[in-house]
Amino acid sequence: MSPAPTASLPTNRRIAAPLLAWYDRHARALPWRVSPSDRRKGVRPDPYHVWLSEIMLQQTTVRAVKSYFDAFVSRWPAVTDLAAAETDEVMKAWAGLGYYSRARNLKKCADHVAGELGGAFPETEDGLRALPGIGPYTAAAIAAIAFNVPAAVVDGNIERVFSRLHEIETPLPAAKSEIGKLVGTQTPDDRPGDFAQALMDLGATICTPKRPACALCPLEDLCEARVSGLQENYPVKAAKKAKPVRKGAAFVAERKDGAVLLVKRPDKGLLGGMAGLPTTNWTVRGDGETGPGAAPFDAEWRPTGVISHVFTHFELRLEVFHAVVTGREEYPGWWSSRDSLAGEALPTVMKKALASAFPDRF
Ligand code: ADE
Repeated sequence: MSPAPTASLPTNRRIAAPLLAWYDRHARALPWRVSPSDRRKGVRPDPYHVWLSEIMLQQTTVRAVKSYFDAFVSRWPAVTDLAAAETDEVMKAWAGLGYYSRARNLKKCADHVAGELGGAFPETEDGLRALPGIGPYTAAAIAAIAFNVPAAVVDGNIERVFSRLHEIETPLPAAKSEIGKLVGTQTPDDRPGDFAQALMDLGATICTPKRPACALCPLEDLCEARVSGLQENYPVKAAKKAKPVRKGAAFVAERKDGAVLLVKRPDKGLLGGMAGLPTTNWTVRGDGETGPGAAPFDAEWRPTGVISHVFTHFELRLEVFHAVVTGREEYPGWWSSRDSLAGEALPTVMKKALASAFPDRF
């Protein structure tokens, strides 16, 4: 995947020179990183360090990763040492970073590199991509940082920087391929690894999601969103899809002493096995199922209002009915006394329904 040459961009839109000049002064000192000045003296990053850090940084913050990285490289200084370690020991050392499948893939990858590949990481994106635990982002990052391949590296920070630079109106994640092309076009052939790391640092320290420090940004004049004063409007987020609405009814049967009838919900399904009020099924219909005709037994059911609760996949609107009853009704459930009702482990949606019937008690 070779990017289009930078020459195809008008000079006044190129970001590499000001960005790298900024990075030369402000690069974060990170344990896996070779500083720009050492890089200039010919120091090359250790591909093992770059790989290990990128795997650790998948979904974990730089701050959390530092001490784990240091512990790993002092215990296993080379990929062959990691390959020789017991998997259990590696898993224990990983504990706390989360996502244990990553640790298992880390070990598998170390075994493969130390064994089949004779201890050397592949130097191309495609070669890296073939290893366990390495996806397109990680392959590009390792190729650029460890081997100076002009790969287009795009992580979340870089997406944000580019969506502002170019006022990209396509919402993420749909904008990913558009951003990838722009990053490829901007990536310089001479310092692709520093370019990627500079964008990461810029996104982490200046072009932050909220209140970006544009006055300190080396790309301020090149940033379309900044020029329009709309930097915080980017990246554009996809409008959340309206959730389907389900309707039903909940019944608050109250004894004269204030006790309320509760039931255990069926074990299967939403709120499975939890306590709740008797309800109808929650259907997409707005028909009789939501009326007092669906009550568990006859009583003088009086509507007290409609409550709404948003679940992951739908919004539930429950019509709430209240009745004062004798307590001799046949219904599988139990009476929760006036004093114990508030302490019952009830799901929020049920508390909302009770609050509709008892505005003073909930
Ligand atoms: N996040 C992911 N990879 C990173 C790196 N190499 N440097 C800083 N932040 C990162």
